[in-house]
Amino acid sequence: MKVLVVGSGGREHALCWAIKRSPLCDRLYCAPGNAGIAEVAECVAIGAEDVDGILRFAKDNAIDFVVVGPEGPLVLGLVDKLEAAGIKAFGPSAAAAELEGSKGFMKDLLAKYGVPTAFYQRFTDADAAKAYVRQHGAPIVVKADGLAAGKGVTVARSEEEAFAAIDEALVGGRFGSAGAEIVVEEFLDGEEVSFFALVDGATAVPLASAQDHKAVGDGDTGPNTGGMGAYSPAPVLTPDLEARVMREIVEPTVRGLAAEGRPFKGVLFGGLMIVRGADGKPVPKTLEFNVRFGDPECQTLMARFKSDVLAALLASRDGTLKPEDVQWHDAAALCVVMAAQGYPGDYLKNTEIRGLTEANAVEGATVFHAGTKADGGRVLATGGRVLGVTATAPTVREAQARAYQAVDRIQWPEGFCRRDIGWRAVER
Ligand code: AMP
Ligand code: GLY
Repeated sequence: MKVLVVGSGGREHALCWAIKRSPLCDRLYCAPGNAGIAEVAECVAIGAEDVDGILRFAKDNAIDFVVVGPEGPLVLGLVDKLEAAGIKAFGPSAAAAELEGSKGFMKDLLAKYGVPTAFYQRFTDADAAKAYVRQHGAPIVVKADGLAAGKGVTVARSEEEAFAAIDEALVGGRFGSAGAEIVVEEFLDGEEVSFFALVDGATAVPLASAQDHKAVGDGDTGPNTGGMGAYSPAPVLTPDLEARVMREIVEPTVRGLAAEGRPFKGVLFGGLMIVRGADGKPVPKTLEFNVRFGDPECQTLMARFKSDVLAALLASRDGTLKPEDVQWHDAAALCVVMAAQGYPGDYLKNTEIRGLTEANAVEGATVFHAGTKADGGRVLATGGRVLGVTATAPTVREAQARAYQAVDRIQWPEGFCRRDIGWRAVER
């Protein structure tokens, strides 16, 4: 098969790395890719959201299967357009991708199908939203309805903070049309976990759990980022809780989307909060859904994936998914993100990274690239999140040691990373 992966991050490098190993894959392209992806795939200079450009490339090059990494092109309907042109594509239709594209749509769907989530209300009017905040008090959460590059959520500790977030979105237009409507919802207190399932329209097969580290600094301090590191599996999600997440959250959501005439195919990524019930027992609740792999969670999932990833993604597209399609190595994986100094604010660009070969030589370690480009024989940092140094080992603790051993071989003075990725699992 000729396969095209769409995207340019660490997630897409990990997908390319895993797909390349499939006996089904004869030729692998990536649009637009990065310097690391160029080592396993042929990179083509087409942006991930250039839907028409990707469609043209796929037609001209007789691509058999397109795997879409990020949410942007999914929400724009890339999969619909490819399928209409007779090209198989992995990921949800635009109608199903609305689960991530509109938080209001997602919350209404969850309410209609009885999926546990924070109580909420949708608003377009700032005064009405503020009255709701006064009624419920702080802490409370304000969310832009649409895609806001991870910046659309304010966990407000005070009513004033919530009012400011409401005004920013509804009056100031900070998120443009993505924030013309907001969701105000209950604050949920607990431990966050990411859960992934592969879905073929009707059947959902659990992938695995992972935990992300959103804050930029050690000890979960500082501003939020796209994710500074991750590990899988996440011990907080015990087998019992995982079964419950499938039964109470994933399956009713998949059935609900199908009933609404928007059958979901692709990766369903639940951002969950494990809260304590009245009896003190853990209860999983849905914070949000994404319609794609997480980044950097995907790097840890691909490192652990044992069966043929490409075959599993195809089965999701074809509606023939079976539990056997998803098998795991009996190992944990941990990914440390290295970012450019200044991230998530303004950061340095075009600085040179050395020592990548030495880092990749650490047992069990693989360096996935996120924001890099090749410049002759040199690798330059071009993004905020630049590398995902990933390692597998029998336990999270050992995977952590290996990942940091690889990190320490990378010579990049203009970069930084957190030194405590995986602390929750290690503490447990
Ligand atoms: P989201 O983009 O919806 O995942 O929100 C970003 C982050 O905000 C999440 O990862 C949580 O840490 C936090 N968050 C979102 N919704 C809630 C909530 N209802 N209660 C507490 N924290 C939340
Ligand atoms: N790491 C979180 C995300 O990909 O949305």
